[in-house]
Formats: sequence, C-alpha cells, structure tokens
Amino acid sequence: MKVEQLFTGCLAEMAYYIHSNGEAAIIDPLRETEPYIEMAKVDGAKIKYIFLTHFHADFVSGQVDLAKKTGATIVFGPNADPAYNIHQGKDGEIFKIGDLKLQLLHTPGHTMESSSYLLIDEKGKKPYVFTGDCLFIGDVGRPDLAVKSDLTQADLAGHLYDSLRNKIMTLPDDIIVYPNHGAGSACGKNMSSETFDTLGNQKKTNYALRADMTKEEFIVEVTTGLKPPPQYFGNNVRMNKGVNISIDEIIHKGTTPIDADTFKEMSEKKDILVIDTRTKEIYAEEGTVPGAWYIGVEGGFAPWVGSLVKDINQKIIFIAEEGREQEVVIRLSRVGYDNTLGYLRGSIHSWKAAGHKVDKIGSMSATQFANKLKNGSMQVALDVRKESEYLSEHVIGVENFPLDFIHSNFAEINPNKEYFLHCATGYRSLIAASIFQANGVKKVTDVRGGFKDLKDTGVKLTDYVCPTTLL
Ligand SMILES: [Fe+2]
Repeated sequence: MKVEQLFTGCLAEMAYYIHSNGEAAIIDPLRETEPYIEMAKVDGAKIKYIFLTHFHADFVSGQVDLAKKTGATIVFGPNADPAYNIHQGKDGEIFKIGDLKLQLLHTPGHTMESSSYLLIDEKGKKPYVFTGDCLFIGDVGRPDLAVKSDLTQADLAGHLYDSLRNKIMTLPDDIIVYPNHGAGSACGKNMSSETFDTLGNQKKTNYALRADMTKEEFIVEVTTGLKPPPQYFGNNVRMNKGVNISIDEIIHKGTTPIDADTFKEMSEKKDILVIDTRTKEIYAEEGTVPGAWYIGVEGGFAPWVGSLVKDINQKIIFIAEEGREQEVVIRLSRVGYDNTLGYLRGSIHSWKAAGHKVDKIGSMSATQFANKLKNGSMQVALDVRKESEYLSEHVIGVENFPLDFIHSNFAEINPNKEYFLHCATGYRSLIAASIFQANGVKKVTDVRGGFKDLKDTGVKLTDYVCPTTLL
C-alpha cells in the first residue's frame, strides 16, 4: 500500500495518490495531469478512480482531462451534478483499489456535496480519512461558499456540525486526518501549518471539535470573522462543474515565445495584461516592461492572480525567468486563467537589447523608511497587509491599504502624491507598488523586508493584539 500526500505550497493544497496492487486513485487532483500519470507509471499501476471531495472554489481541478487520458472513473458524493460523466457515490459506498477499500462518507456543510473518504487497508484497519474541506488541521471548512436562496450559511454550518459529530468524530482516535488544505488557504480562517494529525489530537486542540460544544455555539463560532472570499472563487466553482479547455491546449498556447517588438505591441493593447513573474530581487534590480504587474512565482502566485485579475478570461502575456515558462502557464490555469498568449522570448534582456524602455519601482530599506517616517519627510506611508494583520500590530503613522482590496479602494489614491508601501516581507508591497505604477502613480517606493525588518529598526509600533481575538 502506498499513500502519498502531494502538497502544493502556492495554493496550500493537498492532493493524494493511493496505490495498491497495480491500481491507483487520485484524490482532489490539481489542473495538470502529467504528475499523476507519471506516478502511476512508475508504480506500474492503472489509475482507476479520481475522487473529488467537493467542487473546489480555490482552484480548478483536472479530473476531466485526467479521466480522458487514463480512462479512470470520476467519483463525487451525493448532490453533485456536473456537466460531465461521473459516478455519483452514495453515503457508505465502497470502492476497491487493489487490495484496499475506500469508503465514501457524505459530510455536507462546507458545501452540500462535500464528502470524505475513509481508507480501509488489507487487514480491515482504518489508518486514514481524507476529509477534504470538512475538517482541516486546527479548523473546519468555511460554510459560506455554497449559500443559496434556500440555504443560509447558518444552515450549512448546522450540516457541518452534524457531519463532524456523526461521521468524523466517531472514527478511531488514532486515525490520521488528511485534509485538502493547510495554512494560507482562504477555505478556512484559522488553519494550522501542519498538514496532517491524528483525530484524537484534533479533538483536543481544534476549537470546532470541542466535546461539549452545542450546535448553536458551533454555528456562531464558524460563521464569525469570515472575510469575503477572493473574487475568483465563484468562477472556479463554475469551472469545476463544467468542461474546460484542455490543459494541453492551454500549455501549448501559453508557452508561445514572443519577440520583444511583438511583445511591446501586445503590451500596449488595452485588453492584454502583462505579468512579471520573476523573483522580487531580479524584478527590482532589472526593471520591467512599462505597465506590467509584478506577481512573482516565488510566493502565493496563483491566489494573488485570482484575487487581483478581475476577468477570468483576461488575455495575459508574461515575463519569466528562463526555463520557468511552462510552470507559469500551469499555475495560472490552476485558478482558471486559461487565456495566456505567450511569454517574452529572452526575458527582459531581449527587451533591453531591442532598445525598449524599462520601468523601475523605487526601493528602500526598512531603516531608511523608519528614518524618513521619524523626520516627517514621508508623504504617504501605507501598510498593504490584511486588516487583521494591521490591527494585530502596526507601525504608528502608517495607514492600512490592503492589497486584497486595492482595486475597490484605488479611488482614494492621488496619483500626484508620493507613496511608500510595506507589507510583511516585501512580496505583497511590490505587487501593490507595480499596480500603483501601472495605474499612473509616478512616485511609489517599496520597502524591502517589510514589517519583519521594520520591527528591528526601533520604529514605534502599536501594542500587539493576538489576531484570533480580532475574529
Ligand atoms: Fe473548498
């Protein structure tokens, strides 16, 4: 028996690969298909099933392409009715993978089709339960994403309480809980950075599993402090219920090399967005194509694209470090941005060699920022972290302008003023600075190292408030 957790940091997502005696199964695959096909090939196994815990909101899963290539059966739980062929499993139904069995447990709440899968090994033992977004480590799935006219988030939370109490908490205490997400995902609000745990330990430490918790208390706890989901979530749910462009076609189109002159022409078109995906150091040092947004692949790339690029069908061209072009296209498609037209051949060097102008973002160290703030020579200083991070602790004299809401709040920005932006470590502030510049703000400076470095400068901070008490 082989069970592997496949963790993808950018999305804080966990897919699973199961193999036994020549048969394999994948739980919650990402959009691309090759890694799973390769794993099965190495094991000499046939992928028999693709199990989905639910229609994901935070990424587009690749079950349709994977099923087409492997002949595997796609399994969802009750209430799932997508536009492609599936086996709609029943609560309690058992699926055989080699010498193993996987039992479907219908666990509605996060969404109504949400299901968990219980692994039963050759000896009849139950070592693992794959809980999807029903139970995370330290948290449970948010119950507000599948709200309908006749189903409130309190109704969904009530279902989640019943699912946890009746289907999950009744399993053996030593069973390993394998969830679909970890810390950093917007599918919950208080997830641990651990990627698995025993159920027994979760019963002791997870607020949502407290033994004496009433249903009413649970509903209040899980619905309090929820922030609006990122704007791309609705689109990803819709795509996960439908049939989309194949990943091979997306990769083929997206990895088209574009020469500097053509790239310039395309970058000047109103309906084309340029994204610079290189590391923040290289981007800051070498400059970029005028009008480009910086969203680096070394970071929460896909969720930031999803949060900031409003149109899921946006035409995108990009700048990448050489050799990472296909990775960029795949990572864009994982959140449904399938309309990537190509990349700058020869990266920024070819752009410069062709004699085209580059734009640079101003940059300063945390110490320079602290000194400038102290001597009163700073026009506007903004902290682009989330409101909860800002409220927990921030530099006195710096206003909060969260990157998450940069577009809806942009009317507050005066392009004639000079802005100094910081975040936690320098990734989000560089994204924000690039968008400021692309929107006509001429003087914008990014603070390297962000709040992490600012804390070492002796700059005046507000008192620290534990973020969980702010929820
Ligand atoms: Fe989810």
